[in-house]
Amino acid sequence: MAKAADYGLGPKTFPTGWFIVAESSELDKGPMAIRFFGRDLALYRGESGNPVVLDAYCKHMGTHLTASDSAMIVKNGLQIEGDSIRCPYHGWRYNSAGDVDDIPYHDGPCPKSASIRSYPVVDNMGCIMVWFDEDGAEPSYDAPFLKEWDNPQWIRWQLDHLGELDIHPQEVLDNMSDMRHLGPTHGAPCQYFENEAKGHIYIQRQGGPMQLYGGVMLYTTTWYTGPGILLSKQVWGDTVQYELIANTPVDDGRIKAWHACLVKASSSQPTAEDIEIAKQTQAGALEAFATDFQIWRYKQPAIKPMALKTDGPFKIGRKWYSQFYVDAETAATIQQELNGFHQIPGVTLPAEANHAIDDGLPFMD
Ligand code: FES
Ligand SMILES: [Fe+2]
Repeated sequence: MAKAADYGLGPKTFPTGWFIVAESSELDKGPMAIRFFGRDLALYRGESGNPVVLDAYCKHMGTHLTASDSAMIVKNGLQIEGDSIRCPYHGWRYNSAGDVDDIPYHDGPCPKSASIRSYPVVDNMGCIMVWFDEDGAEPSYDAPFLKEWDNPQWIRWQLDHLGELDIHPQEVLDNMSDMRHLGPTHGAPCQYFENEAKGHIYIQRQGGPMQLYGGVMLYTTTWYTGPGILLSKQVWGDTVQYELIANTPVDDGRIKAWHACLVKASSSQPTAEDIEIAKQTQAGALEAFATDFQIWRYKQPAIKPMALKTDGPFKIGRKWYSQFYVDAETAATIQQELNGFHQIPGVTLPAEANHAIDDGLPFMD
């Protein structure tokens, strides 16, 4: 299993950015023990409704804050107080900033040395998204959001949980530059293709006939907002949808992945039939994506791809992704160098009409 250092991405082991760590509805069942970025984390929803993510282990005696469902304090529903959580062992209370602010059998100030790390987190489009930075810096951009999420004509997704995969995320990101796999892998060879770098956003525009849907033309604009969250606007026939594909590092060289589709219904009051069609649309998109997933499961790492000029701008894509493994100043230099359009010799560019599907996308603001 190849690790970050093997790809020469930069000094960091894990990329900086917003990542999905759970589906919002999972938190309705109570606190969760999760593992990402090579560390164990405690995730719970406070009484305000806001999610909280803390390093998992209580400084008192090392107990995992959210891994017990049998402690009486948990069974009695007394673990969460406001947005704070009590350790299931001796009841020390951690607030959402990660500081101990109450010890049931101790008068006087709580030890500052008991503090643990708290992570920026949002409940966004049905997903719990965490900002991770190895150095603890605050978010430098907002988590991605589609305004269609709040429009009742768009049928909200439920995530496909694809589980964990022993692959470095670099191999997943390579897909953005990879024009030549779209025919053999997905049965949708491109008639046009381009990439565009825009700061922490990386865009792919492509289109071509899609075998799965009888050869109808499929137009897509796909973009990463940071290193872990891909959204793709896809238009074919009367269908318009957004696809979500998310990868989050679990350990160095291992990811967890999710998938979903937000589908536009035929009317502003979606019917049961519209909801069923949306489910089928997501299942169809999952089938297409599963082919990538299967290839990733069994492939060797491509530390140095034997890329031809006509493969696609892999070097650009990898350099863009490397900005998340370096300090902010170096990242800004990489962005300046790459910002703009990246094309493949001899490959047709999107016509103005194809650019029209970009209208209203978040990165156009
Ligand atoms: S180990 Fe957490 S309160 Fe004792
Ligand atoms: Fe793909």
